[in-house]
Amino acid sequence: MEYRRLGHSGLQVSALSLGAWVTFGGTLGRTEVRELVACAYDAGINLFDSAENYAHGAAEALLGDVLADLRLPRDSVCVTSKACFGPVADPRPTQRGLSRKHLRDACDAALRRLRVEYLDLFLCHRPDPDTPVEETVAAMDQLVRAGKVLYWGTSEWPAEMIRAAARIARSHGMAVPATEQAQYNVLHRERVELEYAGLYDELGLGLMTWSPLASGLLSGKYAEGAVPEGSRLARQDHGWRPGMMYSDQRKAREAAVARLVALAAERGVPAATLAIAWCLHNPKVSTTILGCSSVAQLEQNLGALRLVAELDGATRACLDAISP
Ligand SMILES: NC(=O)c1ccc[n+]([C@@H]2O[C@H](COP(=O)([O-])OP(=O)(O)OC[C@H]3O[C@@H](n4cnc5c(N)ncnc54)[C@H](OP(=O)(O)O)[C@@H]3O)[C@@H](O)[C@H]2O)c1
Repeated sequence: MEYRRLGHSGLQVSALSLGAWVTFGGTLGRTEVRELVACAYDAGINLFDSAENYAHGAAEALLGDVLADLRLPRDSVCVTSKACFGPVADPRPTQRGLSRKHLRDACDAALRRLRVEYLDLFLCHRPDPDTPVEETVAAMDQLVRAGKVLYWGTSEWPAEMIRAAARIARSHGMAVPATEQAQYNVLHRERVELEYAGLYDELGLGLMTWSPLASGLLSGKYAEGAVPEGSRLARQDHGWRPGMMYSDQRKAREAAVARLVALAAERGVPAATLAIAWCLHNPKVSTTILGCSSVAQLEQNLGALRLVAELDGATRACLDAISP
């Protein structure tokens, strides 16, 4: 495993980490999650990502249960949670957003579910137009001062809002956001590479990236309209997912995936491994959060660590040219 510094913070995170969205408490039960977490830890993964809304809180509860059962030393794992959407399907107004009240309640609930005394990272899952940024920054600072949270950050915030939060925090001697968690894959690059470009050095912002396979699309398994049974796209309980995976640029995205699959075949590597290696090649990325439905997928995806060191300039140029 390779470890990277989370921006200018002192936290060392594994270049690949494991996330709980859709899978933990959703498509996977306790036995499979236990196996995945154990395999990830054995491979050197030290960061496990979750959120209050994943499986309506069940993802965090399962992760906490498994971490305790495996007796993983607390000082060797980083546990992440995110708040904004609320823990239940239809949260009451005080149970969502980034108000002082919800952030405190969400943090306490995450600590309980995850069975830990502190969160390594606590993120604002989206911007909240109904809460002043000053209130959110102060609430996060209080959680840090109370020892409940070590680092706080944002997810999918516009660059200007992250700048504003950092400015407010600095001017009041409060904890500054340490990281942003953003979608980043060969089909989705703009925010990480352009919008945030100035933030990494200016604010020392770390970068956790999500959906390295665009929800599995970049593994190539959905080629030519195939929808394998049991795959994420086949799930009927998330009607929005096909839209998210293909979006309005379906044809362009399918063509891009086909180019990636062909390039991977030429190099004799799985398309998923190549797509993840491309993410890791960006030095601004502190950690790429994997989503895995099985140990076999995890093992294939971990191959990206070796592959990234072997990526030659020509392959990287071909990958860069793949984006629609
Ligand atoms: N901050 C945010 O707003 C946000 C949003 C989304 C995700 N995240 C975080 O990022 C993590 C990763 O996101 P993600 O789950 O969307 O990642 P992803 O890598 O884009 O998709 C993961 C899914 O792709 C399929 N897959 C994975 N490896 C494969 C392989 N080698 N071959 C074929 N299929 C493979 C699996 O689904 P199937 O086997 O079911 O098809 C797996 O569950 C999440 O768990 C979460 O922690 C954060």
